[in-house]
Amino acid sequence: MIFHERELIHKELLTQKNKNRSIGLVPTMGALHQGHLTLVARALRENDVVVVSIFVNPTQFDNTRDLDKYPRTLVEDTKLLNKFEGTILIFAPEPRELYSGKVRAKRYRFGGLEHQMEGKYRKGHFNGVGTVLNLLFRAIEPHKAYFGEKDFQQLQIVKKLVAIEKLPVKIIGCKIVREPHGLAMSSRNKRLTPAQFKEASFIYETLLEARRRFPTHSIAHVQFWVEERFRNNKTLRLEYFEIANVKNLRTAIRKRKGNTYRAFIAVFAGEVRLIDNIALN
Ligand code: PAJ
Repeated sequence: MIFHERELIHKELLTQKNKNRSIGLVPTMGALHQGHLTLVARALRENDVVVVSIFVNPTQFDNTRDLDKYPRTLVEDTKLLNKFEGTILIFAPEPRELYSGKVRAKRYRFGGLEHQMEGKYRKGHFNGVGTVLNLLFRAIEPHKAYFGEKDFQQLQIVKKLVAIEKLPVKIIGCKIVREPHGLAMSSRNKRLTPAQFKEASFIYETLLEARRRFPTHSIAHVQFWVEERFRNNKTLRLEYFEIANVKNLRTAIRKRKGNTYRAFIAVFAGEVRLIDNIALN
């Protein structure tokens, strides 16, 4: 069942909640792929009713061309979701409907998480993400909500957001789903040429090799090695590679015992921006 209006889905969910049914939410921007569908499958296992929101959120794009070019495939998305057994409600509002008027981001402070990596390179991005998720959480009032580790920084920020907004929802992180050759699945992969798509396995290969080197080499060495490797690649341009402490996502300079680290990467293939990350220890 597909809903375009906040009020209508809210009413339907009220009926479900009155029957004591648990609600899971999977927020997406559509152009669904196996990464999204894995979140949906898990949400269906853990809840009676699953809401999949499909909404390309204007306030989280710092680049209007990226927003214009973002794939919109609601008909195909609906078909994919209809293949599941179980109760799925699709929520696909128009921007003015979800934002009730002005489509504008609220300003958040996520304890510094918002200044790292994606926050540095995409100005205002996490204010947009925080704003839309706050609206979605309030419209749906789910018991649990599912997010991919593909956007690891976003996942950490969402956990902060629910604390700031005092939302009674449990945030669940799910593993990254990859193409057979290793590239993390993404709606943006649809915009890659076949040659770019093939070459993009280089990103995950780089992360794997960084992980292999991490225990025996310094962070500076791994950093230098990755940057050097990309200098020689004609198809892919490195925007950033960072090793960060998972607690605060600050760039790590030196390894310290007891800390957990992750490597994060953002790469351009032509004008398509791809991100990925991997646990290092
Ligand atoms: P979108 O990029 O559509 O992703 C929706 C959810 O699917 C996110 O939680 C994302 O981390 C997860 N996801 C995407 N690709 C994945 C993969 N290969 N493996 C595992 N999970 C994957 O992220 C957004 O939309 C938006 O920022 C949103 C949260 C919907 C707010 O607008």
